[in-house]
Amino acid sequence: MKKVYLVYPKKIGTIEPEVYGHFSEHIGGVFYDGLWVGKDSDIPNIRGFRKDLVEKLRAINPPVLRWPGGCFAETYDWRDGIGENRPVRYNWWTSCDNRYEDNAVGTHEFLDLCEIIGAKPYFAANMTSVTPMHIRNWMDYCLSPRGTTTLAKEREANGHPEPYVIPFWGVGNENWGGGGNMRAEYYMDEFRRYAEIMQNITGIPAIIENNGGKRIELFACGSPQDDYSWTHGIAQACHRSGKQMRGFAMHYYCGAAGDPITFTEAEWTQMLVQAQLMEDIIVRNWNIISGHGLQEHLKLVIDEWGCWHPGGSGPSKGYNLFEQQSTMRDAMVTALTLNIFNRHCEKIRMANAAQLVNNLHCCFLAGGENCITTPTYHVFDMFKGHQGAEAIDTVVTDNDDFASSLSVSASVKDGKTLLTIGNLSCTEDAVISLESVGLPLAAKGQAVLLVNDDIHAHNTFENPDAVTPVEFEFDPAQPITIPKAGIIALTF
Ligand code: AHR
Repeated sequence: MKKVYLVYPKKIGTIEPEVYGHFSEHIGGVFYDGLWVGKDSDIPNIRGFRKDLVEKLRAINPPVLRWPGGCFAETYDWRDGIGENRPVRYNWWTSCDNRYEDNAVGTHEFLDLCEIIGAKPYFAANMTSVTPMHIRNWMDYCLSPRGTTTLAKEREANGHPEPYVIPFWGVGNENWGGGGNMRAEYYMDEFRRYAEIMQNITGIPAIIENNGGKRIELFACGSPQDDYSWTHGIAQACHRSGKQMRGFAMHYYCGAAGDPITFTEAEWTQMLVQAQLMEDIIVRNWNIISGHGLQEHLKLVIDEWGCWHPGGSGPSKGYNLFEQQSTMRDAMVTALTLNIFNRHCEKIRMANAAQLVNNLHCCFLAGGENCITTPTYHVFDMFKGHQGAEAIDTVVTDNDDFASSLSVSASVKDGKTLLTIGNLSCTEDAVISLESVGLPLAAKGQAVLLVNDDIHAHNTFENPDAVTPVEFEFDPAQPITIPKAGIIALTF
């Protein structure tokens, strides 16, 4: 039996709610017809957004939603997405899927979505193909007080007199790749140019006041995967002048291991090993950043993460670019990753799973009248109590063999402990005892368990609840069995 120690006196830090964030890009079927079905659709909708989906999304407390890309952002002109008679354009992804962007969802619609689901918006600004002034104008349009600037009046004419609140802005996306193929030194020069202009408007007192008295946070492009040369370059240049940078927006996709659905047991473990690399990437990037003394104002923002299986396994059978099915294995990657974030919460400002609907590592699959949640969705639901909680240290005995280990994290909020555990073994159940250091264990607790006899289990339009959690009461003083490949959330 493994012992799981909850070390209450050893507090790690507060888990920023935004660590449980999501990403929605204009790519494949994320918006059209995933999130957006249109106001005149027969499909039940709230102001054009699929009702079933947005209600379920709201239920998992999405704290923040990143938009409009990804690579899409690098050729996006925000003026295409406001007002009447919106133009149809090629978008970044048209060369991959031959689909066009009709701009039905633009700034107002996206911000409406954020309001409907209760999430803060995080805008990724194009810094590859437009000027800093173009981005400043977007900020002016969105953020300026009612009736002040010409752009504020244009916003009012388009139906939104009051300023929007957009607390997070990314300065570019993947600028080491699609976002301009820049070198770190060159990017930092460009970052300073854009950020200076952007920061200039974020300093206007009325805009600060509307943002809850806080300055809008600007995030710089972070490192690709486990390549640290970019981090070194940014940290070095930042050292000289990086005062505007509040986040280092790094990406880590843990890739694929075999087929997304019919993988082998060895590939189950291989996928988890690849996902586990996230911890190393966080620590190494953090060491570089703190090595330059930047840790007080610059935190990690992992604004794209998830599995990246070969396309074609989702319900659209490949029509939606990058759409993939999500099995119990993807759910375990989610649990493992969120547990890593919790254990390193003092380093992390935000994280955004990529992407929300009909795409990589998604929470929803939707098309026509159908809309289902994936096993990954259920993990976000089971873990949502960690948002804003105080993470505490955990120690698990007999946990060195990765393939049969437990992924664990714990946090405390309002006097309740939430302990989330994934049994990484797909062949052996695990029995644990809870050991509390510094506080007595509660007399009873509530458990939510996500498991299936088949590690390949997934939800489909025909069988939407094949993978769904069960709830039961448990006694924290008694041994607890976590079935093989099971994920459990214990509250006590
Ligand atoms: O999520 C799909 C793409 O992956 C994003 O557009 C890009 O930022 C990343 O390379």
